[in-house]
Amino acid sequence: MDSEPVNVREFQTLAKEALPKMHYDYYAGGAEDEHTLKENVEAFQRITFRPRILIDVSNINMETTILGYKISAPVMVAPTGFHMYAHPEGEVATARAAAACNTIMVLSFGSSCTIEEVASSCEAVRFYQLYVYKQRYVSAQLLARAESNGFKAVVLTADTPKLGRREADIRNKLTIPQSKNLEGLLSVEADSKGGSDFGAFASQTLDPSLNWKDIAWLKSMTKLPILLKGVLTAEDVEVGVDAIIVSNHGARQLDYAPASISVLEEVVQAVAGAVPVLFDGGVRRGTDVFKALALGAQAVMIGRPVIYGLAAKGEYGVKRVLEMLKDELELTMSLNGCCTIKHITRNHVRTEGDKL
Ligand code: FNR
Repeated sequence: MDSEPVNVREFQTLAKEALPKMHYDYYAGGAEDEHTLKENVEAFQRITFRPRILIDVSNINMETTILGYKISAPVMVAPTGFHMYAHPEGEVATARAAAACNTIMVLSFGSSCTIEEVASSCEAVRFYQLYVYKQRYVSAQLLARAESNGFKAVVLTADTPKLGRREADIRNKLTIPQSKNLEGLLSVEADSKGGSDFGAFASQTLDPSLNWKDIAWLKSMTKLPILLKGVLTAEDVEVGVDAIIVSNHGARQLDYAPASISVLEEVVQAVAGAVPVLFDGGVRRGTDVFKALALGAQAVMIGRPVIYGLAAKGEYGVKRVLEMLKDELELTMSLNGCCTIKHITRNHVRTEGDKL
């Protein structure tokens, strides 16, 4: 393939060529039969537009504000682990690309670079993603480091009381990826029993007792706003956090969880404007970004495509991925007759449930 991709999907092909199979599979894979993995993308394809014509679209403004922070477009970087498997500069390169695009990166708890390295890489608004470990002091210390290094919010990932069954990683016997943040903090002896060491490590660390009462624990630990990641039902809409993230963890946790986009509206209706709703899962096009916004998301987060950009072309690749999505969103807005993000409404999309 020509080495300069023209869309985000083409970065995946380059990433596959660039990476050892074990690492590519770690990034690309989903849980079990990967039904949800396919659905995350295909559910977008079943949503169509109701474009409006004869609207002056000579000036398009994609700027929006997330928890008070202005970003150039509603396209953020999702937390994903171990960027050094994709590129030697790891999360530092990703952070620089996000900053160059004037958007917010959520740094994963499982980052390969340290919090401090990312914080000092460039000036930008960043959020920190937290897993709650059985070894609570680990989570508490990393959160405190993120806060003192200027991270502006904490994303509590709540869909991972246990690690989903990712069969590619089991087959490849994925080793425990190196996170410099955990060095000297934690000693566990992963016994993989023939599966992936990573899975064994996760089962020794992730706290399966995590529950709603722990939101109060988290609040007692930090002054930062809290975003709750992993909400897929109206029942789990909890007031008392600062934002909700509709996400099925990129289909890596519960197979046959619904495609994220198919439940976005249910969650948005339950939230009823009380707090912002963010979204991730399967966003590969500017049209997907528009659809998520039309169904009520304030912004979307991008997982795998960012890693594929990083694997293919480092910082430049991540920048290109984010720029492509922004450029496509701009065109989608123009062709739908929307000049600003606020102009994007539910009336601009038709879902399968809508009456014709
Ligand atoms: C993830 N995701 C994730 N989420 C999280 O809260 N903490 C994490 O450390 C990770 N790690 C991670 C690694 C990899 C390789 C992937 C692909 C995903 C989930 C991520 O934040 C996001 O929910 C999905 O990636 C969004 O779906 P797409 O954009 O990958 O389809």
